[in-house]
Amino acid sequence: MYILGINAYHGDAAAALIKDGRIVAAVEEERFNRVKHCAGFPAEAVRYCLKIAGISIEDVAHIGISRDPSAHLHKKILFAASRAAKQGRQWAVGAEAGERVKRGTGKGEGVVVSEGGSKGGLLEENNGRGNGSNSEKRGPGIFRQVKDRLNNAAKVRDLKDDLASALGTPKTRLRAQFHNIEHHRAHLASSFYVSPFERAALLSIDGFGDFISTMWAVGAGNSINVLDQVEYPHSTGIVYTATTQFIGFPHYGDEGKVMGLAPYGQPRFIEEFRDIIRTEERGQFRLNLDYFRHHAEGVDMTWDQGSPIIGRIFSDEFVQTFGPARERGGPLTEREHDIAASLQLRLEEVGFHVLNHLHEQTGLTDLGLSGGVAYNSVMNGKILLNTPFRRVYVQPAAGDSGTALGVCYEIHNGILKRERGEVMLGAYTGPEFSNDEIRRELESSGLVFETLSDEVVTKRAAQDIADGLVVGWFQGRMEFGPRALGNRSIVVDPRRANMKDILNDRIKKREPFRPFAPSILEERTADYFEQSHPAPTMLMVYQVREERRAEIPAVTHVDGSGRLQTVSREVNPRYYQLISDFNELTGVPVVLNTSFNENEPIVCTPRHAIDCFMKTRMDVLYLGNHVLRRNA
Ligand SMILES: [Fe+2]
Repeated sequence: MYILGINAYHGDAAAALIKDGRIVAAVEEERFNRVKHCAGFPAEAVRYCLKIAGISIEDVAHIGISRDPSAHLHKKILFAASRAAKQGRQWAVGAEAGERVKRGTGKGEGVVVSEGGSKGGLLEENNGRGNGSNSEKRGPGIFRQVKDRLNNAAKVRDLKDDLASALGTPKTRLRAQFHNIEHHRAHLASSFYVSPFERAALLSIDGFGDFISTMWAVGAGNSINVLDQVEYPHSTGIVYTATTQFIGFPHYGDEGKVMGLAPYGQPRFIEEFRDIIRTEERGQFRLNLDYFRHHAEGVDMTWDQGSPIIGRIFSDEFVQTFGPARERGGPLTEREHDIAASLQLRLEEVGFHVLNHLHEQTGLTDLGLSGGVAYNSVMNGKILLNTPFRRVYVQPAAGDSGTALGVCYEIHNGILKRERGEVMLGAYTGPEFSNDEIRRELESSGLVFETLSDEVVTKRAAQDIADGLVVGWFQGRMEFGPRALGNRSIVVDPRRANMKDILNDRIKKREPFRPFAPSILEERTADYFEQSHPAPTMLMVYQVREERRAEIPAVTHVDGSGRLQTVSREVNPRYYQLISDFNELTGVPVVLNTSFNENEPIVCTPRHAIDCFMKTRMDVLYLGNHVLRRNA
């Protein structure tokens, strides 16, 4: 039985397909259409999932999407009504709070209105622009209107329309049963049903989804029992994004830059951040709303078929407290470093506050972690040091793309009560290309290349890395989630301190403060790092052992940390062999691994990889068993 899961009309649109509980495919739309964090409907990702399975949409028994407009409805109504009463203005409610949707429909200044055309169904200000100036008519009828809108927001209907159009098929052929899975339940499912745990505490923590920012639960067998949640407008993700904007990084997904900046600073603003986000009893936390705009004025957000755009979230209170916001591209001073350090510390404090409560509530020591905030690998790496949890499974696509997979498993396990089976240790669920396919692509490009045997290919690449070359490494199935894990990677020698500058100069063009990450043979982790809990999807940061830092300077951050990937033969045999061969040559079981891209989505096809190779100054490119050298 096939189940298709979709994350749509939100950042990192994605599709996933499972068959009888096993993952067939999971992939983000951005890899196909080359638009970073692409929102909208994941048409190409859906088509890929069906193609690799060799099926048509009629063969799919269940289709689900990771949002549920009817979830938490009474809370949305209460919030909208209280705000309307407080402000004497009119509001309407949909699936997701605090967002005003810009759809490029020509309705005035890109303001809103989710009814009908919008798939998002968002809580939005009807501010008199566009088509919403009939406030008198709406006053006493707000509850009715809310209900009407929600009824209108027949998201399944929209999903069917888009699905039929993406597949070029009549809607009548979509015979599957359709499901709306609440956003955080989809996150929780993604971190539990494919984890190695039979029973575990679960935490989903992000900006917002379906009116909730944080949800925790117990997973046991094939069910998830939600224990508690943190509701709109309170959110750790919102604090991180607002501060990221204030520091001058405006793009969707820029939060990781601030995490990389934090070790340069001192947390001298920690008391300010303890005021900005306050912890409460029973694992709860609340924002000091004076610092934010999302709950009051609303924030423009665009979830069209392009990169998401999020308007300014921080309020003038931020400026009064910290001074003027940094202009994008302006100098990064000690102030920005210290704000980043304070934010990061406060996120960790709040995260551990929630997690310690979750442990108290459940008594469990295994944890499944998901949600966009679970991409904060610095926080993740400290969980074992600051909470009683002993094993942590972080969903490799912890952000919203992973909800596509969560939807599949919530249907398979949570709803249909089927047996569990899959344990997702890697993230290799995307497209792959045979040596023959790659050869044809190379031949059609007229490029000179050599073809090596399986035994020789890793040895030769290891030698190139040890010789200081910048090596493109394109193998097997593409990764799901934001990290390249040895199949769509650029690999270089971590012993050479100048490698960071070489990579930035020749390919990556990243901000110089951002660290590069190490991949290490799993069994050698404790020799190089102060913790050794596996981190197969590069979502944990540990301290590099003091005595090893000089040995691998290119992957040791300014504070002595490294965002490692532990590599096992079982999960990725060819990448394991490459690092083993490098270890044979150098005595160092570590390589520097960065994603195969140049300021764009990670490459997906051999064509993308060849294009990236040609337009950058990469030295050598391994595509399966074929190797291509610059100046060959
Ligand atoms: Fe989310």
